[in-house]
Amino acid sequence: MNKPRVGILISGRGSNMAALLDAARDPDYPAEVVQVISNRPHAPGIALAAEAGMIATAIDHRPFGKDRAAHEAAMHASLRRAGVEIVCLAGYMRLLTPFLVAAWHGRMLNIHPSLLPAFPGLHTHRRALEAGVKLHGCTVHLVTDTMDTGLILAQAAVPVLPDDTEDSLAARVLVQEHCIYPAALAAFASGRAAPLPAAAAALANPLPAAAGALSNPLRSAAAASANPLPLGAGVE
Ligand code: GRF
Repeated sequence: MNKPRVGILISGRGSNMAALLDAARDPDYPAEVVQVISNRPHAPGIALAAEAGMIATAIDHRPFGKDRAAHEAAMHASLRRAGVEIVCLAGYMRLLTPFLVAAWHGRMLNIHPSLLPAFPGLHTHRRALEAGVKLHGCTVHLVTDTMDTGLILAQAAVPVLPDDTEDSLAARVLVQEHCIYPAALAAFASGRAAPLPAAAAALANPLPAAAGALSNPLRSAAAASANPLPLGAGVE
């Protein structure tokens, strides 16, 4: 089978990259990761890639100074040389210029640690806690020239618990990132560029229906009466 060739761009830890590499090891996975590029030559993700048998290419942005497009042109040339057909941003921490976005229009995916369109940008977990949301999560979406917008391919939700810190919430979301990114890439690479069907999103939800009901923090009668949903609704 001719699998689409995937390039992954990272800047740091690389845990989503590792999840993609791990998924792609399965012979039945419908995409092949052929390249990892880091804009930081000492990103921990480079060693993580090596553990997975992938030599990551470092294309340091610093020698390019403020010329972002020139740095992107170097990355783009490298991706093209490797025959990449789909680009996955996985913790790539530089804003993209219209050049790279246009070059990979409709073929570049990103994972974002919030339920978009809520909390685009940085510090999503802190902002979710500050806003008092009860559900938080992550989103895989196509990249467009406006940051953290673009067609949503997959999302997973997690509960925000009363004693959550930024770190505990981030860790809970990250587990789901590692599930939905490989799933969304698989669907995308199989030609199903449309968003995952609702059933698939539900499967990515960490809370099985029963657990979801049990973990509902709205238990008291007063809270229940303030809840616009009839009891039991929203569990499926
Ligand atoms: C993840 O939370 C991802 O959603 C965001 O940046 C973080 C990268 O983490 N875009 P890692 O490098 O994949 O571990």
